[in-house]
Parts: sequence; structure tokens; C-alpha cells
Amino acid sequence: MSGLEDVVACETSICRIAVEEDRGVLEYRGYDIHELAKNSSYEEVAFLLLFGDLPSKSEFESFKEELAMKRELPPQIIGLLTHLPPFTHPMVVLRTAISYLGSMDKHIQYKSHERSIEKSISLIAKFPTIVAYFHRIRTGQNLIHPREDLSHAENFLYMLHGEEPTETMAKSLDLDFILHAEHELNASTFAARIAASTLADMYACIVAATGTLLGPLHGGASQKVMEMLREVAVPWRAESYVREKLENGERIMGFGHRVYRKVMDPRTIELKILAKKLADEKNPKWYQISEAIEEAVYKYKGLLPNVDFYSASVYANLGIPDDLFVNIFAIGRISGWCAHVIEQYENNRLIRPRAEYVGSQQRRYVPLSDRE
Ligand SMILES: CC(C)(COP(=O)(O)OP(=O)(O)OC[C@H]1O[C@@H](n2cnc3c(N)ncnc32)[C@H](O)[C@@H]1OP(=O)(O)O)[C@@H](O)C(=O)NCCC(=O)NCCS
Repeated sequence: MSGLEDVVACETSICRIAVEEDRGVLEYRGYDIHELAKNSSYEEVAFLLLFGDLPSKSEFESFKEELAMKRELPPQIIGLLTHLPPFTHPMVVLRTAISYLGSMDKHIQYKSHERSIEKSISLIAKFPTIVAYFHRIRTGQNLIHPREDLSHAENFLYMLHGEEPTETMAKSLDLDFILHAEHELNASTFAARIAASTLADMYACIVAATGTLLGPLHGGASQKVMEMLREVAVPWRAESYVREKLENGERIMGFGHRVYRKVMDPRTIELKILAKKLADEKNPKWYQISEAIEEAVYKYKGLLPNVDFYSASVYANLGIPDDLFVNIFAIGRISGWCAHVIEQYENNRLIRPRAEYVGSQQRRYVPLSDRE
């Protein structure tokens, strides 16, 4: 029961994760993640998660257009980003900006299917802009406004770096967004669904999810992985580093998973291939250290890498600063969060579990004046 392991908390038709015949399975709305990784785009996956089916050609074009049109931020949000202390963690900035966006939505409490889809598209479109703008502001650079002619991934890299990314960079980030888009009842999605079950507004649900994602046992792990890669610094030091950490009873970030305990996380398979491709084309260092750590952790603890492990070397080779890693996860995951909030609204019952009480009982109250 501890950690609600294996407890089924709700029904969903958004995502299936399983271990079948010694293989990790991940499907979005019935489509295998490897097939989506090979053939799809983040925009198409976002549509699939929100609407339940793949789009027709015309649906896809108008969905992409709507996303692109909604990228720009209201001036009040840009003002907020300018006023937040530059040392604020970019995930704290993101959740604060989402809350502010909610305060500007006159229809914040509307929860019809159409209104929820509208809010979802706006949030999916604006997440990358919030992240890129804050990074430019905190580093004293001019804002690069979103372009409607670029894809979701291309446009984010363009706004972040101030120049159009290469095709490899844009495709790599697009694939990363697909792989992070959805993963059933992970902690942040569950947080969003709990909030939705009280009929809280969409922004409140996404704030709950964003705050939960930052924890180092969840999405925060990728930033910690990068810290570890920097600390290890060379592949030959990986084995002694891992052995020492494990002997001290410490956890190695980017390893272990509640569901994929003994099988490889299917997202890790894709991310490792992607990390290797970028390593061959750019800097091989982080990939080489990662592989050496993977070997050592398996040797000493029998644990496999999770989605956050190879994400780190992918992001480093895309020129993304370490403290934006969790935000990249959030930019991908927002579509999954919104799909779950909508599913919860549409078949709702308050999520209110019980706790087993283990504290003292029936104690006699002693007035303060009689206590020492
Ligand atoms: C993801 C995670 C929170 C899952 O936790 P969980 O399902 O509660 O797993 P448990 O805590 O029951 O761990 C089972 C065993 O594996 C060990 N273990 C799990 N993850 C470990 C890690 N990353 N490093 C070292 N040991 C780990 C535990 O110590 C425990 O060992 P024991 O049986 O010898 O005591 C956990 O694996 C973890 O902390 N990983 C590191 C953080 C991370 O990468 N998070 C991103 C997840 S996508």
C-alpha cells in the first residue's frame, strides 16, 4: 500500500503502460510509443491525446495553426517574468505564470468540453514561450517573439537561442516532447486529477501538476542527472562514483521506476538512440559518461535507466541550460495533463482516499496552566 504501489485509482482511455512478456509497453490512445516516435510529431500527439484520435489532414493543419497563433504572451505575463528574481527556478516561474494566466481568463470556471479544449490549446502553445522568455530575461537578452511558420519544437529552440535550429536539433526536441507527452498516473498527473476531481479550474490543476513535477523523485531527476554527469566528468570514474554512492545508501538519479521495475522503460530505448545520434554529431562526452554509469548501476544494483537519464545528455547537446531540463519535460507533458483533467471533469467523482491512523488515541487534554 505504501506509495499507493499497484493501486488502481481511476479508469482512463488516454494511456496504457504495462509490462508484457518482459517488455515495457507504452501506448497513447492505443498507439505504440515506438511507432509514434518514428512517424509522428508533437503537434499530432497533442491532438491525439486531447481528442482521442489521430487528426485528419485538415484537422491537423487547423490545430497546428491554432497552436501557433496562441504562442504570444499577454504583456502582463511578460511584466511578471521581468519582475521575478532572476535566480527563481524556471519551474517556479512556470507555475506562477500559469496561475497569472488563470487570473486573466474571464471564463476560468467554465468546464465544458469546448472550453477545456480551448484552455488546453492555449496552455500547450504558451508553455514554451514562458520558458524561453524567462530565460532570455534572466540572462539580459532581448525577447525573441514566437513565429507562426515554425513547428512547436523549432519555435521553442528559436525563441530560446535566437536563431533557427538545425533540422537535427528540431527533430530531436520534437521526439523528446513526444516521449514526455504522457505517462498515465505518474505523480504530477495524479496531482492534476485530484485537483480536477474537486472541480477546480484548469489552471489550478496544471499548477498542481507543475509543482509536483519539479520534485527530484519525478521530473526534477534530469537536472540531478546532469549534475552527476558533470561530477563524474570522465567515463572511467563512473564505476567508483556509483559504487561509493550506493555504499552510502544514496540513490542514483535517473534510475529505477515504479512500473518498469525489471524491464527497460520504452522511452529510454528511444532516448538512448537519440542521445547517441546527437553525441555522434555534437559532443560525445555526456553520452559516454552516461553509458559508463548505466553499466555500473546495473552491475551493482541491477537497476535500469528511466526516462530522465538519457534526457540529460540529449538536452546538454541541444544547448539547453541545466535548470531548464524540468521545464522541457513540462512543455512535453502539458498535453497529457490537460487530457487527464478533461477526462476527470467528464466522468468525475471526488478523489478522497482514506489513511490508516497510526497515532495516539483518546488522550486526555491537560490545560496549559497545569503543564510544566
Ligand atoms: C523512481 C523511484 C522514485 C521509484 O521508487 P519506488 O518505486 O518507490 O522504488 P523503491 O524505493 O521501492 O526502490 C526499490 C529498491 O530499489 C532501490 N532503488 C530504487 N531506485 C534507486 C536509485 N535510483 N538508486 C539506488 N537505488 C534505488 C531502493 O533503494 C530499493 O532497494 P532495496 O530493496 O535494496 O531497499 C526511485 O526508483 C528513485 O528514487 N529513482 C531516482 C529518481 C528518479 O530517477 N526519478 C525519475 C523517475 S521517472
